[in-house]
Amino acid sequence: MSSGLQRALGVCYYPEHWPEEIWARDAARMVSAGITWVRIGEFAWSRMEPEPGRFTFDWLDRAIDVLASAGLRIVLGTPTCTPPRWMLDRFPDMLAVDAMGRVRKFGSRRHYCFSHAGYRAASAAIADVLGQRYGQDPRIHAWQLDNEYGCHDTVLSYSEAARHAFQDWLATRYDTIDALNTAWGNVFWSMEYDSFAQVDLPNLTVTEPNPSHALAFRRFSSDQVVAYHTAQVEALRAHTDAPLIHNYMGRVLDFDHFEVGRSIEIASWDSYPIGFLSDRLEATPAHKSHYLQQGDPDMQAFHHDLYRAVGRDGRWWVMEQQPGPVNWAPYNPAPLPGMVRLWTWEAFAHGAEVVSYFRWRQAPFAQEQMHSGLLRPDDAPAPGLAEAEKVAAELRSMPEVCVQQAQVALVFDYASEWAWATLPQGAGFRYFALMLDAYRALRKRGLSIDILPSTTSDVTGYKLVLAPGVATLPESLKRALGQTTAIVGPRCNAVTEELTIPTPMGPDLPDLDVTVTRVESLPPGVERSVPGIGAVQHWTETLEGSAQVTLRDADGAAVMVSNGALSYLGGWPDSALWDHLIADAAARCGIDTQPLPDGLRCRDTKTHRFYFNYAATPCAFDGLSLPAAGVAWARR
Ligand code: GAL
Repeated sequence: MSSGLQRALGVCYYPEHWPEEIWARDAARMVSAGITWVRIGEFAWSRMEPEPGRFTFDWLDRAIDVLASAGLRIVLGTPTCTPPRWMLDRFPDMLAVDAMGRVRKFGSRRHYCFSHAGYRAASAAIADVLGQRYGQDPRIHAWQLDNEYGCHDTVLSYSEAARHAFQDWLATRYDTIDALNTAWGNVFWSMEYDSFAQVDLPNLTVTEPNPSHALAFRRFSSDQVVAYHTAQVEALRAHTDAPLIHNYMGRVLDFDHFEVGRSIEIASWDSYPIGFLSDRLEATPAHKSHYLQQGDPDMQAFHHDLYRAVGRDGRWWVMEQQPGPVNWAPYNPAPLPGMVRLWTWEAFAHGAEVVSYFRWRQAPFAQEQMHSGLLRPDDAPAPGLAEAEKVAAELRSMPEVCVQQAQVALVFDYASEWAWATLPQGAGFRYFALMLDAYRALRKRGLSIDILPSTTSDVTGYKLVLAPGVATLPESLKRALGQTTAIVGPRCNAVTEELTIPTPMGPDLPDLDVTVTRVESLPPGVERSVPGIGAVQHWTETLEGSAQVTLRDADGAAVMVSNGALSYLGGWPDSALWDHLIADAAARCGIDTQPLPDGLRCRDTKTHRFYFNYAATPCAFDGLSLPAAGVAWARR
């Protein structure tokens, strides 16, 4: 885990968007604002290689020179998320195809299919060219590969390239077609195949495809992202020792980020709190209006903790930080004054090495002309700039934020997202929403959290581990969960890796005699009360076995069973029940918790406790008073 690193600010800059005469002044203004990193290049392929094989790096050389001479450290991006138009003449079949069989055309970005071998090679080739030219250049301090894999729903592609690659992938995974037929249960509805070449992609079927088929396609699609990424990693590694970074997105779950992260040094992500609140959260209208100009109080922290787990040795950044209104959500309000500073400090408190704002100056043209930057299109400062400057000044007096292992961990598993998206059994069952509910409940009790992948086999040092919704529990994790206080469930270990029902039926935990014999999904507004405590919503399970019942619903049916420190939870708690579960489990394992006031969140580092007021009203707590959107920290 990173510790004691100097924290720094950065900014995303597009020299190719601006006249060369203003680059030097831009660079000087960045430096005087306290910015030390600048990311460039990730969309500039048409300017780097205007025709196949004709490279024009003179402008990029000059931009690097100007920025580095001003004292900025450069992150150079490979431009592979925006292949130029000529690439389509070379590879007319490189475009992704959506589930309706429609080709996704040129004219925006991310217009490629991860399975297209020719485009994959072309991506590695441009990475190689850039690596040859700049790999040993000391002014390039880090590299970004591509941009936001999977954004704009680009992981699942139903192209011909994907179909052929899928068949090869199946042949490797199952070896014989009989093994595939058995694993998927293809005897059902006479879906048996005679050869791998007959297996199509699981779209445009009359009714739903076999869930095993659909899940296999999702696993394959994730592996294609990893393979595409690996090709670029290998190309760059040959030329540079500088850290390699990818900028992941918020709630893009279609590929396994832990797998992508394995081959690069730093995980980063793009944090758009207000965009995400309106665009990608299951929340009530009241919640959305309460946090309209702040963003959800747990969404950013969740991703900070997730990407800290994805980064090698806990190294992670925010590569893009929302600086003002964005353009892409249904509605785009401005952040409350103070929020840009709050988001930045929150990232540092979770261990970010760099927080980089997107973008320096608002573009006056094209798709993102309504997206704010630190400067307005007319070059005047936008409100975000002063907040960035304030953080820069604060960082100078408080340079070190040391991450420490949390007492509580939450297991996050991408394959569970795919399994439950494939077989939801009820519209309310969204794995991510379940995870965020659990995370939120922990945070509302003032806890700091580490996120662990399901491949974890050692939970030493964690007093409490939560594992909701892990579709298939690896044996190693099962054993590890028995070593600490753990709450497993709901819907844990309920299916095999092939998305079939196992025998014995789940959760099949060592030392806990409980079987989930029936599940029910509940429509919105329907709940099963747990008297005096809260209720179960969305999802409820019938638990049988000799394990001790530790929570019951109003009908006396088991909601949770336990054996010592290990509990299985057979339903999706509402917020009151979550709070009870967390308070009770924390008390049992010796963790102090306290309910926080509305909108307040905390984060502990080795030396400090940070306080973030996401509420639009002032708040007083622990002897501190925080204004709306206020941040405070105190020595622990
Ligand atoms: C990100 C992307 C940036 C920019 C930004 C706008 O998803 O990486 O290039 O489009 O969103 O909010």
